[in-house]
Amino acid sequence: MITAVKGMNDLFGKRARRWGRMEEDIKLLVGNANFTEFRTPIVEEIALFKRGVGETTDVVQKEMYDFLDKKGRHIAMRPEGTASVVRAFIEHGIAMNEPLPFKAFYIAPFFRYERPQKGRYRQFHQFGIEIFGDDSAQMDAEMIFTACRVLDHFKVNFEVHVNSIGCKECRPAYREKLVEYFSSKKEHLCDDCKTRINTNPLRLLDCKTCDPKSKYKDIPVMTDHLCSACDDHFKQLQKSLAIFHVPYIIDPFIVRGLDYYTRTAFEISANTGGSQNAVAGGGRYDNLVADIGGPDTPATGFAMGLERLFDLISEDFYSEPVLSAGYALCDEAVDDLVHFAKHMSHHPVRFFADYKPKKFKKALQKADKTGAEFMFIIGEDEVKEKKILMKNMKTGEQKVYGQHEVMLIVRDLLNHESGIVRPS
Ligand code: HAM
Repeated sequence: MITAVKGMNDLFGKRARRWGRMEEDIKLLVGNANFTEFRTPIVEEIALFKRGVGETTDVVQKEMYDFLDKKGRHIAMRPEGTASVVRAFIEHGIAMNEPLPFKAFYIAPFFRYERPQKGRYRQFHQFGIEIFGDDSAQMDAEMIFTACRVLDHFKVNFEVHVNSIGCKECRPAYREKLVEYFSSKKEHLCDDCKTRINTNPLRLLDCKTCDPKSKYKDIPVMTDHLCSACDDHFKQLQKSLAIFHVPYIIDPFIVRGLDYYTRTAFEISANTGGSQNAVAGGGRYDNLVADIGGPDTPATGFAMGLERLFDLISEDFYSEPVLSAGYALCDEAVDDLVHFAKHMSHHPVRFFADYKPKKFKKALQKADKTGAEFMFIIGEDEVKEKKILMKNMKTGEQKVYGQHEVMLIVRDLLNHESGIVRPS
């Protein structure tokens, strides 16, 4: 049997309906904050991610799906969204053509060749935002608030961890401090971290394999080594988060797995105790646009894992829209049922017609099996009298209506009960 590729999921039925509504809610929330949708291709030249995300990151070194196309171009399936949006931002001259700050959002699939487990997939989906052209800590606070606003909407319990990882001015000296600190502890580090000491020493701080942060209590932290501009920025971030009423924890071990960050770095974890509990992460990346060849443009953003968000949304958050079904009891009734199905298509109700004539009992069984709450039946008598029988499957109540009259009843009844009215 051919099955789906490992770590990649199908989505259908009730989950697909709930997923669709989750995406709609997110779009409404970010639309209100003036973010516009940004769609980029699923693949990019691999050079973009090498340059943007960083040659020494796990994402680039171990997790990329890449291939040579028919002309020998080296292509990668996007492992994240920021580098692609930055590439498009530069390519379309947005810095020149649009008023700044420019606020973009995306909801899209991404690909990482990771070891699949619950909450970690090889094709996964992110909702992300990227804001270009504003270097203020207030904009970072608004960006983090946007993530919280979405999680609050879905009634998720979470914790925000913030850090500053400095800038080109102050980080190199701190990096040296880390190299010096860990050089004497090499034998206690995992193989990856032994290499990372020289390539990317900040990543030692959040390594889950050798876990230095729980072994050593005197690891130097960036927040003690910020230059005065970064220190001011970080203090302002905290002040603005307080004004946005975002509770946060200062966590010097948030260093992020991608290389482009400057100053603000943050992660949001869900209070579930699960291992894959990072539901969102992001931060500021003031050098990335210039590093990829664009005009010097500060930027900030985050991405939220949609599979992880989906699992955190409580079962009763969305009510299932009422389902109704239509049946014909004889050949002569089928045309009337077609007619009825056409009328039903104008109403925001979940309806399906079964055009194969069947006995009343059989229709009842089928409606019951599909979970229909209302059933519409057209038999010989109904055809003659231009009527339709409507049965409430929950109460067993049934009544015959004129075919025009029934449309009014459907509109009132199903509109009201279809769950179109959302929880706020
Ligand atoms: P990231 O931390 O690599 O950041 O990913 C963001 C979120 O995507 C994670 O917190 C997690 O919820 C979800 N995620 C990541 N990998 C997987 C996976 N294999 N399976 C399921 N969910 C996953 C970024 O991608 C940055 N581009 C965020 C950003 C935007 N920074 C600035 N702007």
